[in-house]
Order: sequence, then C-alpha cells, then structure tokens
Amino acid sequence: MSQSNESAQGPSRRRLLKAGLAGTLAGGLVTGRALAAGDPAITDIQDWNRYSGPGVDAQPYGTPSPYEKTVIRRNVPWLTADPVSSVNFTPLHALDGIITPNGLCFERHHAGVAEIDPAAHRLMINGLVETPLVFTMADLARFPRTNRIYFLECAANSGMEWRGAQLNGCQFTHGMVHCVMYTGVPLRAVLAEAGLKPGATWLLAEGADAAAMTRSIPLEKALDDCMIAFAMNGEALRPEQGYPIRLVVPGWEGNMWVKWLRRLELGDQPWQQREETSKYTDLLASGKARRFTWAMEVKSVITSPSPQAPVRHGRGRLVISGLAWTGNGRIAQVDVTIDGGRNWTAARIDGPSLPHALHRFYLEHDWDGSALFLQSRAIDEKGYVQPTKDALRAARGSNSIYHNNGIQTWYVGTDGVVENVEIS
Ligand code: MTE
Ligand code: CO
Repeated sequence: MSQSNESAQGPSRRRLLKAGLAGTLAGGLVTGRALAAGDPAITDIQDWNRYSGPGVDAQPYGTPSPYEKTVIRRNVPWLTADPVSSVNFTPLHALDGIITPNGLCFERHHAGVAEIDPAAHRLMINGLVETPLVFTMADLARFPRTNRIYFLECAANSGMEWRGAQLNGCQFTHGMVHCVMYTGVPLRAVLAEAGLKPGATWLLAEGADAAAMTRSIPLEKALDDCMIAFAMNGEALRPEQGYPIRLVVPGWEGNMWVKWLRRLELGDQPWQQREETSKYTDLLASGKARRFTWAMEVKSVITSPSPQAPVRHGRGRLVISGLAWTGNGRIAQVDVTIDGGRNWTAARIDGPSLPHALHRFYLEHDWDGSALFLQSRAIDEKGYVQPTKDALRAARGSNSIYHNNGIQTWYVGTDGVVENVEIS
C-alpha cells in the first residue's frame, strides 16, 4: 500500500501537529454521552446487583474475568513443525502498563516445558573455577537477593516481517517480548563463591530441558548485571519461564536467558560448536554473517490501535498507545506519526523509565476520521534512533531472520479497521 492512498489532510491539521498541539483537545470529545432515557444499563437491575456472588473459597488462585477470555497467548501453527519446539506470543494489543502478567508471557521452547521438581534440581558450577560447586535451590535463596524489572525479547521477534508486512497483529509481529520483575541473586555472587580461575573469560549456561539448551556468554556480562532468578512478579517462576531457576541477561537476546538452569561452566573461549551459540547470527547480503549481536537494539510498536485492537468508537478522542524498549539502557523519547512519517509528535512516556525494561507511551489524538498511517519511532538514551525497515534492509539485506527492530506501520481505515502494511 502506498502513501498516496492516504486521504488528504488539510494544512491546518498539519500546522496543528507541527505546533505540538495534537494532544490537546477541545472539551466534549472524550467524556460520556448525555443521559439517555431507556438505557437498560442504567434503568435495569443487573444480575450481579441482585444475587450474591461466589465466596472467597471459590478460586484459591484467581483468574481474569470471563469477559477477558480472548486475552491469551496465541501461536501460529504453520510457523513451526510442532508445538513442542515452537513459540507463542504475548497479547500486547490487549495489555497496558509495562509489566506482563505471568500467564501471558510468550513462551519459546526447543523441547517443550521441563516439569522440574525443585527438590531434585541442582545448579552446578565447573570449569575454570577454584572449587567446583553444586547448589540446591535452598542454597541459592541464602544469597543476598535483588529485584529488577527487565524485558526479554527473542532475537527472532518480528523475524517474519523482514521482507514485508506478514502477520496481522502486534501480538504476532512483536509479541516475542515480555517484561516482569525478577527476584533472584546476582550471578557474580554465585560465581564468587566458586572462585574464578585466571583465564576464565566465557561462561556456558546449560538448561535441564530435553534440549539441554546451552549458550556461551562473555564473562564480562555475567559479572556485570546477570541474575539467577527464581521469581517473576513476586511469585515463583512459571514452568514455562524456567521454574525453578533461569538466567537473566538484561538487554540481551532472549536465547541467552537459559531456562531450567542446571549448569554454569567457566572457560576461556565461546563453545562455538554448540548449536545455539553458533545459530544466532545475522546473514548479510554479502554472504557474511554478523555474530555476537547480543544487545537488543532500540525498538517500539503501537499496540493500540493495531489490527487486533481496531478503533471502535469512531472519530474524536483516540488514545494511541504502545511500547518501546532498548537493550542499551533507557528510552529517551518516542515519536508518533499519523501520516506515515511526514510529521512526528513526541508521545508521553508514562510509568517507570528503567534500563532494559519496557516503556509505555501514549499520544492522545483528536481523530478526524480520515485514514492514518500510524508509526512509532523510539530513541534510546545512547541516541540510537529506531531505523525504518528500508534502512535495515539496505544495511543487512533480506536474508536475516533475527534482530529486526524496524519501524512498524499500521494503516487505520476510515472504518477504524487496522492493517499491517509497509510504506516507502
Ligand atoms: N532455555 C532453555 N533451557 N530451553 C529453551 O528452549 N529458549 C530460549 C531461552 N531460554 C530456551 C531457553 C529462547 S530462544 C528464548 S527467546 C527465551 O528462552 C524465551 O523465554 P520465555 O519462554 O520465558 O519467553
Ligand atoms: Co528466542
């Protein structure tokens, strides 16, 4: 779809945008309608008002309202051969704030969920250490604990979108990301207990799942801010997320965050022969590959409106909202355009702005009912600006799968229906 399809917007509208006034509205566009006679939601007594509801023993572990039953993880069956070595996606279009509820965090497994009895699980440290050690889960809980909010993004997030607009919904284009508060112990404290031998420069992290997934991590990162986490959002990790323990590698690609962690081996070079370590590279047009592209670069997406969250209320106040994140610290600014990038307006970042965490942004917009080409563009505190997809393809070709942080475009039709498109 080309930009010329966009219905024209008057010059006065443009001037308003330039002046940064798009977010301020005249009164009367947002609030409730005038009291209408005969609205049964007002005049009738509803069932929930007439009868007592379930008691406190009805749900020992609470669940969302049945009216929220469509807010679920979803997979794309044709994407992978079977659901055991596969992925599902966070319903970003239906969430707000920066924290992902535990039951909605996307899952990526190479051999399904390991169902581990914590009493029979150990963490072993070996290789270039003074004293090889084995920890029980109770041992780990006796280290000083720390709480940190971090996003985790799979390097393959948006991977289907390299060559063009593919999947109709931010759940599918961007839903391989989640953000929770982890409780755990600093990896450096656990490594210090074993004592590092001179020459130790790399760490191999190994999972206890049937894939025994392993990744090499440079020791510098391991000693900087990595954690061994045992809780997320205040409760034990979910089995899907690595119960009883997982590695947390802030800002770096999700594959390194080894779940069901059972072993850490210290060495003097990366374990290149291991499949996962060598696989996560970016093949360039030249035939060369980028390696060691660990930090997830600055990225954003408008979560609403989006294909799964169309505009249902017609013209008037439209709350545009989305997420931005970077593996290089904090997000400094998010700009939003409604005209495919001709004019940009700074959005409002609301909520905590934490390094390596999701940031929530909003732009309150007075929609005149014309078609929109919506985009968001994030800038991180290091000054990195989220690139266009064309700029990414110019730099890397179109063989890549991983590390697509390009700007996403949503086309909002006059009927409020939203589609995934590309414009150039
Ligand atoms: N760890 C183990 N042991 N096995 C796995 O299959 N998948 C990795 C990583 N850690 C994986 C793993 C990948 S590719 C990603 S993106 C993240 O876990 C996904 O974490 P999540 O399932 O908590 O979202
Ligand atoms: Co991944």
